[in-house]
Amino acid sequence: MSATDIVTLTAERHGNTFFATIDDVDLATDLDTAWNDIHAAYLAHKVLCLKRQDLSAKQFHDLGERFGVIEPHTVTMYHHDEFPGITVLSNRTELGRPKGIRDAGSHWHSDYSYKAVPANVTMLYAIEVPEAGGDTMFIDLAAAYSALPDETKQRLDGLQAVHHYRHTKDRDHPEGRWKLLSEEQRRLTPEVTHPVVRTHPETGAKSIFVFPGLTSGVRRIVGMDPAESDDLLDMLFEHCTQACFQYRHKWSVGDLLLWDNRCTMHHATTNVLPADHFRTILRINTRGTAPA
Ligand code: SIN
Repeated sequence: MSATDIVTLTAERHGNTFFATIDDVDLATDLDTAWNDIHAAYLAHKVLCLKRQDLSAKQFHDLGERFGVIEPHTVTMYHHDEFPGITVLSNRTELGRPKGIRDAGSHWHSDYSYKAVPANVTMLYAIEVPEAGGDTMFIDLAAAYSALPDETKQRLDGLQAVHHYRHTKDRDHPEGRWKLLSEEQRRLTPEVTHPVVRTHPETGAKSIFVFPGLTSGVRRIVGMDPAESDDLLDMLFEHCTQACFQYRHKWSVGDLLLWDNRCTMHHATTNVLPADHFRTILRINTRGTAPA
């Protein structure tokens, strides 16, 4: 572990190439003075955990607005009562109904990659967490791209992939979003095309931008024979998911985790969380820019 001083805050790096914690800021009182440092740390470390926060939903929402326009999730049934831009993730029930989405994505994905303009930041704020389980895993896709052989980088240059929200080879999967969407929500999530390698608009770093996930399914590489497309995608997924590019976060109450979807992918583990291990987390996504 190394420590990197960023003006007033200290970001302590935990992963090999990414992921840092900050334990010396109180967002409820210091957001104005700390904002520039938080933003710089987010770009430098890609995933940040701001420890021991105690925020109202409004304060959480205010932080989200610093990163961009807050974009409510397509599945509206789990929106926060007061702030529709906040989605509730929870395995609790209230009055016989789920309090939030039980599993927001136990598969490798990048948020809103199925939209023409995907998310830049995702922020999760932990209200209650179990003693064990419910970890969130991350992959540094810029590091994964850098580690590719030059000939693979050349092969990927200029390729585009088709993404589709509800695409999954397993339509019967219990968390498949296909089942949760109304006709209108399906209409609002058509196929979109993004470069297979995107360049970060703020840092200039290149990252792989295809995902094996269930909800953010990549259908195919444009203009490629289907078997060749499947082989290339499988090779990329195998490369990216190597342990050397990963970091696994164990949650504490008050953790405010935020990450850059433009150069990372993440994976919940709530699909295997026992029903009596309660976990309630608030989530915000903000709109980024079209990948290029
Ligand atoms: C998500 O994929 O946005 C949620 C991650 C988690 O619940 O651990």
